[in-house]
Amino acid sequence: MGHYSGADDKKYNENLKKRIEELKKERNAVIIVHNYQRDEVQDIADITGDSLGLSKAALKIDADVIVFCGVHFMAETAYILNPKKTVLLPVKEAGCPMADMITPEALRQMKKKHPGVPAVCYVNTSAAIKAESDICCTSRNAVEIVRSLKEKQVIFVPDKNLGLYVQSEVPDKEIIIWQGFCPTHIRVLPDQILAVKKLHLNAEFIAHPECNPGILRLADHVTSTGGMIEYVKKSKKKDFIIGTEMGMLYKLKKDNPGKRFFLPTDNLICANMKLTTLGWIAHSLELMVYKVQVPENIRKKAQKSVERMLAVSGEKKWVSISGT
Ligand code: 13P
Ligand code: SF4
Repeated sequence: MGHYSGADDKKYNENLKKRIEELKKERNAVIIVHNYQRDEVQDIADITGDSLGLSKAALKIDADVIVFCGVHFMAETAYILNPKKTVLLPVKEAGCPMADMITPEALRQMKKKHPGVPAVCYVNTSAAIKAESDICCTSRNAVEIVRSLKEKQVIFVPDKNLGLYVQSEVPDKEIIIWQGFCPTHIRVLPDQILAVKKLHLNAEFIAHPECNPGILRLADHVTSTGGMIEYVKKSKKKDFIIGTEMGMLYKLKKDNPGKRFFLPTDNLICANMKLTTLGWIAHSLELMVYKVQVPENIRKKAQKSVERMLAVSGEKKWVSISGT
């Protein structure tokens, strides 16, 4: 009996990549990949990016099929913006625990308690929450979105850390915050940051706004995953401490061979993001599974909240909150 080796893994992946290429042509598909995905999945991407970048990309896609390598809310957002396309999520269990921390009923109750206060939802939410909200935001544009609202009070769901970060940047508003959180980002602890800073005295610390406020206070720069890529590219520094999911390091290292990247802890991993493999992508294109769809009445309302966000971020003509 022969033994199994790393060379077999390599060959297996090469065969899968070839098969995915064939299937992409057959199905007229594009592969969209979030920055936290496995290295080998990032390698076969037509487009990689953060939630905002991928939403914008989804708007412009000509292909018939979008294979979304990320988590459910991201594929759902692509469908919300592009309902004529077939949107596939290769692993149907790939969800975002933070997105599941708020229900439409809870948001309705919050709105009832604060009549007339606009509701801003993070893109890490279900279509039903987007449909209940006035405007959506991502980690890249949350501050800009909240600032764009004329009201003094704003409801913000579901991420308490992003909400608190926005509050610190927009002190003239009162932000009423839901208490959701990302189970990956809350693992970063201040002592870990201080310890890595001690080891790399000249390193800049870049944090994702889903980290706790105590972590963000230690950061030199706070931004989305796509924002991190741009920031590092422009920075003259050589060393960076990265406060977000470890998948980020792949592209950062690839784009910046002369720079060094350090994680504060090796448990910065989003298990849901890592579920998608080359095998599941081939399976997805082979069987055309798992189709992500949203009932049309909810989709239309959710689309308004996402399009309002894109309008503020300069992507489309402004659509007012009153819907006119
Ligand atoms: P980005 O929009 O920054 O890519 O973030 C998505 C996300 O889920 C972060 O945990
Ligand atoms: Fe959700 Fe956190 Fe994973 Fe992002 S990293 S998809 S917020 S669980």
